[in-house]
Amino acid sequence: MAGFFITFEGIDCCGKTTQARKLVSYLRRRGHQVLLVREPGGERIAERIRRILLSEKNSEMSLISELLLYQSARAQLTERMILPALKEGKVVVCDRYADSSLAYQGYGRGLNKKMIKQLNQISTSGLVPDLTILLDLPVKISFRRKEKEKRKKDRLERERFEFHQRTRRGYLTIARQNRRRIKLIDGTKDIDETWQNVRKVVDSFFGKARR
Ligand code: TYD
Repeated sequence: MAGFFITFEGIDCCGKTTQARKLVSYLRRRGHQVLLVREPGGERIAERIRRILLSEKNSEMSLISELLLYQSARAQLTERMILPALKEGKVVVCDRYADSSLAYQGYGRGLNKKMIKQLNQISTSGLVPDLTILLDLPVKISFRRKEKEKRKKDRLERERFEFHQRTRRGYLTIARQNRRRIKLIDGTKDIDETWQNVRKVVDSFFGKARR
């Protein structure tokens, strides 16, 4: 595989979407061909699944159904968008990927982690990111940022504090178990300071990749 696959992870309002966009313009300025996608979504059918997943009307969704819909959206995005772009030598930047399922459905919801890993393996066709940036943030700050935004909360954002707490801790555990791939960055800083930290991690990644 010729390209590079970079993912962003973290709890809601950690700033990953902003940082992913900044990274994409930075890489483009440096001459890379870049595809930016998000999960769930990033592809026509996957975007339709996203609407089902996030609609606050779907409060009766079962946990297994939720898990499988995320996986289904991931399979669609991976096969139709990510793998072809990597084959063409592009850098693919993805806002959330398989780690989200393990953190939210595994640690957050309490579903069996081994099962989720198996499903991730299927929906990603075994694709693992070359680099994952985890923006870590205390749940308290995440909730405060959400309040400030004052937009309507989606179905997952409506979950209570403990769910997000378990999800955050899950992310930190996943990062500890994948030290080479996952780089932890403090998400409490302002946009520019966080970006400097992201840039350092990415520069070092490309420096090593070139060697
Ligand atoms: P996202 O659009 O990234 O929201 P935000 O920008 O607020 O982070 O993701 C939507 C929600 O979906 C988010 O609350 C996390 C959740 N999610 C899962 O629970 N499992 C998954 O596998 C993925 C990809 C997302």
